[in-house]
Amino acid sequence: MQLIDGKATAKAIKAEIAEEVKNMLAAGKRPPHLAAVLVGHDGGSETYVAYKIKDCEEVGFRSSLVRFEDNVTETELLERIDRLNSDKELDGFIVQLPLPDHISAQKIIEAIDPAKDVDGFHPVNVGKMVIGLPSFTSATPMGIVELLKRYGIETSGKNCVIVGRSNIVGRPLSILMSQKSINATVTVAHSRTKELKRVCADADILIAALGAPEFIKSDMVKDGAVVIDVGTTRVKSNETKSGFRLKGDVDYGSVAPKCSFITPVPGGVGPMTRVSLLLNTLKAASG
Ligand code: GUN
Repeated sequence: MQLIDGKATAKAIKAEIAEEVKNMLAAGKRPPHLAAVLVGHDGGSETYVAYKIKDCEEVGFRSSLVRFEDNVTETELLERIDRLNSDKELDGFIVQLPLPDHISAQKIIEAIDPAKDVDGFHPVNVGKMVIGLPSFTSATPMGIVELLKRYGIETSGKNCVIVGRSNIVGRPLSILMSQKSINATVTVAHSRTKELKRVCADADILIAALGAPEFIKSDMVKDGAVVIDVGTTRVKSNETKSGFRLKGDVDYGSVAPKCSFITPVPGGVGPMTRVSLLLNTLKAASG
């Protein structure tokens, strides 16, 4: 069994990005600039946005944090997005999800200029990605594909089963995995899938992205499978400073010994998601 070290891979990519930023500065350009819009004080969202800002600092990007309380109106948020869209000093921005119930996340996403949509959530970017045109691709699927490539994992003709069909991970990943550069045979399994255990146990590459801690047990995994764990459920813990720790969707202890490759949680997909946002921002600044 080989561990797929997302943390080390992301660190190497960050060094490549930092080098690129140096080249931009040497050529007299300004550094790439990412803004994050954060509504309210959800603990998970606060942490993720803080990571995004820290990542920017580490590679030499400029970053901005735009904060609103959870009673902000949809109109106020849309007005701010308009200003971010037309800000010439800004290359890309994200609106951290989830948003409060009185705000339509879809309306907000569709208000973002696709050229600045470094999350790759706007329907224009999703549509371009589906037909293989240059686009911003959602960060987690992009990070997973990069991990498979950098670890030289054979994907052509392989049976890839993705458990979970979210707009952010499962669905876009299913499209990427079926593209000609990757050539996997893809199954998207979900809560209504019959005989889920049998479907999963047939996978050469099993990707768990359903958000249910330790859901994937060893009897759902074929010997020698590649297992990618996208789960990041925050559970209370007395062992960490933050009082929380992340749990994956895979029962790592029983599954790992059966795998050819497996991603840990934390330190697997998470760091690659973060670095993909930086890559998209660099692309926005260069394009
Ligand atoms: N919430 C959970 N994941 C994401 C993400 O990738 N982008 C944004 N904007 N919000 C999220």
